[in-house]
Amino acid sequence: MAELIDGKKISQEIKDELKEKVAELKEQGISICLAVIQVGNNPASTVYVGNKKKACAYIGIESLAYELPEETTEEELLNLVRELNEKKEVNGILVQLPLPKHIDEDKVIKTISPEKDVDGFHPQSVGALSIGQKGFVSCTPAGIIELLKRSGIEIAGRECVVVGRSNIVGKPMALLLLRENGTVTVCHSRTKDLKEVTRRADILIVAIGKAKFVDADYIKDGAVVIDVGMDRDENGKLCGDVDFESAEKKAAAITPVPGGVGPMTIAMLMHNCVESALMSQE
Ligand code: GUN
Repeated sequence: MAELIDGKKISQEIKDELKEKVAELKEQGISICLAVIQVGNNPASTVYVGNKKKACAYIGIESLAYELPEETTEEELLNLVRELNEKKEVNGILVQLPLPKHIDEDKVIKTISPEKDVDGFHPQSVGALSIGQKGFVSCTPAGIIELLKRSGIEIAGRECVVVGRSNIVGKPMALLLLRENGTVTVCHSRTKDLKEVTRRADILIVAIGKAKFVDADYIKDGAVVIDVGMDRDENGKLCGDVDFESAEKKAAAITPVPGGVGPMTIAMLMHNCVESALMSQE
């Protein structure tokens, strides 16, 4: 039976460390502020944004919430981002995705100042990551590296297989594992014989958005399995991309859904906000 990788517990440790750091910074007269923008009222986004605001309050980071109507024009949103770029007291700008269809997400992301890009989505941040330079790293993959490290799981020299090639998770995940000296393979919908590839993994990261897609058959005995999925099963219950019950029989360690990768994303966002404030002091 696999060991459970407890993302809830590890994220709480990180948030407590950050809380202490933020209190120290406050004593030095440094305060931290994250601007969170949501356009429209996608219910999942409302939950995510609510959790981000709650984490800010817990750690002692001020959050400025902008809840804009669905009809907001692209130009109005871009102007708000430009305004926040100029505000010295704002350290981080987060525009919750997805945006309504009439707004070009790439254009919005490109408009966020790279110095305040705490989501790590700006092309400059992604470029910096790809060539090993300093910059903000996308929170979910950064959280997964932290989960592995804090669980004592070695990455260097090991076979790491990432299933999924999204800009937010799959691609930055591959780059981060490479930076940690893993041997990295990225699979996607056009991969031939997916099982043959995933069965080579010492560390298997699954981010495809398909409920319970990966079962024991895809997993090597003793592998570490990280499930990035946030799906609904046939009964509408929250589940991951991995069929947990089947997979835990083969894996050495596995993340649950909920309580695995999800809470780490927010912890790393908070980490990025603190880093941003520290960098603006330099
Ligand atoms: N939508 C889903 N995940 C994320 C995230 O990490 N950041 C933003 N801005 N939007 C998201």
